Amino acid sequence: MRSTTGLLAVLLCFWIPTALGGARTPFFDLTVYNDWPQFEDYVKGVAHDNPSFVQLKTIGRSREGRPLLGVRIGKPAPAGRRKIAVWLDGGNHAREWPAFHVAVYFIEKLVNGYLVDDKITKYVDTLDIYVFPVLNPDGFVYSRTSSRATIRQWRKNRAPENCTGTGPFQTDLCCEGVDLNRNYDIGFSHNNYPFNNPCSDEFQGPRPFSEPESRAVRDFVMSSEIYGRLYALVSMHTHGQLWILPYNYHKRTYPQDFKDLETLANKAADRVFAYRETKYRVGTAADMLGTATGGATDWIKKNTPTKYVYVLELPPDMKTWFAFQVKPHWLIPIGKETWLGIEVIFDQVIEETKNFQPTIEPSGNNKTDISRSPRFRQL
Ligand SMILES: *[C@@H]1O[C@H](CO)[C@@H](O)[C@H](O)[C@H]1NC(C)=O
Ligand SMILES: *[C@@H]1O[C@H](CO)[C@@H](O)[C@H](O)[C@H]1NC(C)=O
Ligand SMILES: [Zn+2]
Repeated sequence: MRSTTGLLAVLLCFWIPTALGGARTPFFDLTVYNDWPQFEDYVKGVAHDNPSFVQLKTIGRSREGRPLLGVRIGKPAPAGRRKIAVWLDGGNHAREWPAFHVAVYFIEKLVNGYLVDDKITKYVDTLDIYVFPVLNPDGFVYSRTSSRATIRQWRKNRAPENCTGTGPFQTDLCCEGVDLNRNYDIGFSHNNYPFNNPCSDEFQGPRPFSEPESRAVRDFVMSSEIYGRLYALVSMHTHGQLWILPYNYHKRTYPQDFKDLETLANKAADRVFAYRETKYRVGTAADMLGTATGGATDWIKKNTPTKYVYVLELPPDMKTWFAFQVKPHWLIPIGKETWLGIEVIFDQVIEETKNFQPTIEPSGNNKTDISRSPRFRQL
């Protein structure tokens, strides 16, 4: 009797979920903050366990040699066809741990919902969904090594020290790290104070794309794998409850399709609000907070045909001081509400592109041209 029950339990655990298409992800505890090895194991594991629709993507390596990992979730396209692609990432700021975890929540949602939930099944069948939870693993690892504020609140990557830094009363200070979200070639200038100070939390680096982490993202969005079919990109950061539109390298500067981006952002933000009244402000960060040059999403909007490009500053709101890491029991609620906004974006992408058929060759993608002139596509 006992052993029959045991056997049944085993069958229920391992057979039924697979047969129904559910629970196919390795265990990842979203009620606590995890370390980098948990992310690495999870991302590799989810691809390994679901080869029919999840593929591991390693787009490069960090300064310290860690892989820049993500997954492509999507049913393979019929031969000779290219699917529309969308991109979700957990950003590139070391201390913004909730964003990394929410990216894993999205993978959980998509992989476990495939062939179980109609909406998710439609997304996975129709789109190629790229998810990159951690685009600055070195900084993340470093921020986990101590609760001392200078380490726990680390933002940059781990570029070696530069000794031209300045402090309130000092010059020639040595400081490590580059802010990857100031390192892209947009609005970059050696006079950009304080981004030109190696001791600033927002040091832009010695030149655009000086960092392997930003080069990896640039090269991947320009690659024939996704260029010309990537239609939406959402990069998550913490914190502030801001739904950030391009452009941010200059105030009152907008792409020509800004109205479309704003309309969809408002719709998505309303959907998020409906869940537990988390209120996002929608606009450019340049207009809401101040100019920030060298941003990843600004560069992608300007240099690729990707239409909907957003940065989300996840909860809590701006009034909470230095709240980059909410109490981890908020991770799942934040994941749930944010996902509802992502659904609004995916639905719009599917609706808008239903008559598109991206060609086999990326349209107008001339890699030689692009590498010589990153601003080939002025909007
Ligand atoms: C240090 O930073 C300054 C300011 O950006 C830059 O001009 C210089 O080239 C950097 N030095 C090195 C070795 O990267
Ligand atoms: C790509 O750009 C390079 C440099 O401008 C040019 O020489 C080459 O002919 C272009 N190739 C195509 C296929 O357009
Ligand atoms: Zn950030």
